[in-house]
Amino acid sequence: MIERTFVMVKPDGVGRRLIGEVIGRYEAEGLKLVGIKMQIVSLDLAEKHYAEHRDKSFYDGLIAFITSGPSVQMVWEGEGAIDAVRTLNGATDPQKADTGTIRADFGQTVQQNIVHASDAPKTAEREIALYFQPSELWDYSQPDAAWLQE
Ligand code: RTP
Ligand code: MG
Repeated sequence: MIERTFVMVKPDGVGRRLIGEVIGRYEAEGLKLVGIKMQIVSLDLAEKHYAEHRDKSFYDGLIAFITSGPSVQMVWEGEGAIDAVRTLNGATDPQKADTGTIRADFGQTVQQNIVHASDAPKTAEREIALYFQPSELWDYSQPDAAWLQE
């Protein structure tokens, strides 16, 4: 199924000049970028985004980290995009992430793990709506789309 997923290059990824590296991996997977922006996430937005983690011990640190500097928000589209992106990202803890994943290659700690991505269709829908207006998401075709689907 063609899906859309919400992805963020976190402040550590931006600070360490890894935006292009992350984008390059999703492009190489054949996924399509349909929305992109950069901002310092506000406290209010961060609290909405991570509401599910409100009662966790790491919540305060997570909110402080995610609002600590500019981050890049993106929406990627493709066949099974939600799982495909999470596979490329690797496990939350970079120490446990599979070899060759973004987090294994660049992540420093469980918190400073470079990227965020939606974990399910409902989450993706909610997170995309949190960060993007429908008019900021682009519908276009790519010349290689036909042979990618063969
Ligand atoms: P994400 O939401 O960022 O894609 O990561 P995830 O699904 O792999 O991990 P999740 O459980 O949703 O946790 C969200 C983010 O919170 C930070 N975290 N810190 N100190 C800790 O034990 C801890 N656990 C999670 C990480 O930055 C994680 O990506
Ligand atoms: Mg998560």
